Amino acid sequence: MNDPETWRQQLREPDGAAALPPDIDITVPSVARMYDYALGGKTNFEADRQALDGLNKEIPGVAALATDNREFLRRGVRFLVAEAGIRQIIDVGSGLPTAGNVHDIAHAIDPGVRVVYVDNDPLVLAHGHALLADNDTTLVIQADAADPAAILDHPVTRGLLDLGQPYAVVLVGLLHWLSDEQDPVGVTTYFREYMPAGSYLLASNLLDDELLARDIEYELLKRVGVGTFRPWEQHRKYFDGLDLVPPGLVYANDWRTDGTRPEHDPTLPDYTTYLTGGCGRKP
Ligand SMILES: C[S@@+](CC[C@H](N)C(=O)[O-])C[C@H]1O[C@@H](n2cnc3c(N)ncnc32)[C@H](O)[C@@H]1O
Repeated sequence: MNDPETWRQQLREPDGAAALPPDIDITVPSVARMYDYALGGKTNFEADRQALDGLNKEIPGVAALATDNREFLRRGVRFLVAEAGIRQIIDVGSGLPTAGNVHDIAHAIDPGVRVVYVDNDPLVLAHGHALLADNDTTLVIQADAADPAAILDHPVTRGLLDLGQPYAVVLVGLLHWLSDEQDPVGVTTYFREYMPAGSYLLASNLLDDELLARDIEYELLKRVGVGTFRPWEQHRKYFDGLDLVPPGLVYANDWRTDGTRPEHDPTLPDYTTYLTGGCGRKP
């Protein structure tokens, strides 16, 4: 189990099909599958669709946060590869494969970029079988973001990446799923301290802007049991000691915009002030 080739074989078995793992319960909504549904993906079930539709009904238009987040991810990864010259990426909380995965964005610029996907949802690993069967530069592992040491020490991470050279840690749309006890500041501190100079952290996070945040949290808690909107001050801590890439830590929709944001429906509230985005470089 300890060498990456064994893992590659496992991920390719048996025929690349994304079988349903025995340990998933499709009657209980999952964050990964609800997000997939919000983005128009196909890897979701009735419980996930009902949960997101219910959330959207209580908080009209809130699912736009998913597309805004995904757009931030796309711009962030483009920046990392095309402008910052990053060639190794650890994408934690990678989500289910849908349009515009991190490796798709990176490989459109340089097919040699190596990507390790990390998620705690077993279905993400199962879909890695299908998606990455013929891909030698991209692998997926199942691990918990609350345990960064396990991610960095994982044989797949060690086998595919050279952690002595600069890399990017992508925590996009992830840290708000960790509880205070799981210590998201501690998680980012661990990643930052471990990475060599010239590495980057790219992150987006749900922001407690004190308007609807409590209502959305309550609705999320009811449906998926997790989700914490945190204040600017905490978001800044995630990037402590890093040089923030311009324009700094801002609303995700304002980060290096390129005019491609889907048109906002004027009949619905705009949730721009509920999501921050930023990217920092370790000096
Ligand atoms: C909203 S999706 C974000 C997907 C992708 N990063 C993006 O921005 O498009 C959040 C993902 O984080 C995963 N996740 C939540 N808690 C996690 C944890 N403790 N460890 C690892 N992954 C986690 C979920 O399973 C889900 O796939």
